[in-house]
Amino acid sequence: MPSSAALLAWYDRHRRAMPWRAAPGHAASPYHVWLSEIMLQQTTVAAVRPYFTRFITRYPTVATLAQAPRDDVLALWAGLGYYSRARNLHACARQIADMGRFPQTVADLTRLPGIGPYTARAIAAIAFDQPVIPVDGNVERVTARVFNVQDPLPGARRILAQLAERLNEEPEARARPGDFAQALFDLGATICTSRNPACGLCPWREDCAGAKTGDPASLPRRAPK
Ligand code: ADE
Repeated sequence: MPSSAALLAWYDRHRRAMPWRAAPGHAASPYHVWLSEIMLQQTTVAAVRPYFTRFITRYPTVATLAQAPRDDVLALWAGLGYYSRARNLHACARQIADMGRFPQTVADLTRLPGIGPYTARAIAAIAFDQPVIPVDGNVERVTARVFNVQDPLPGARRILAQLAERLNEEPEARARPGDFAQALFDLGATICTSRNPACGLCPWREDCAGAKTGDPASLPRRAPK
């Protein structure tokens, strides 16, 4: 079993600075986490950065975003694409402002506009340290490799989610759900990349069943179209 403690120790040394991430040991702002997760749904970290900074400068709180005219929010979003995200963002800000606080559970978050199961889990883990694991493409790839899952996507999605859940059940992961999720994102983005993974630098190299079989880059497999 790959060690959650080893992954978190790696994250503590190599975590990528992002404007929505809190300083180590500090709680992340739910507003920042929510806004960044909506922006990151279909857009890369590099493209999101300047938009995120412009948004929080112009709208420092959920309440200011909720009060803004919708057309101003859409104009500030221009260039990011997938504009239904901006419409949902504004509607969601209004609902949260009306509620007076951010919902914290996956079930309550999923009821909000623009927040699906993945985003609800990401917000619950990162902003509220709920013991859930958001499974995106990075997490699927890392999980397929460390457990050497040969079943192809998309059929393997369920088993990969169950295996990611097993990693998340370790006590060290349980103690730091937001960091654990983001450690998996960072590992997938920087070391356990689709092509040419840098296995020599990986905190899980001794525990990775996929690397032991010799061809981790072939995982996850994909069913032919
Ligand atoms: N992709 C989605 N959310 C992310 C986050 N918090 N850090 C890095 N990549 C992400």
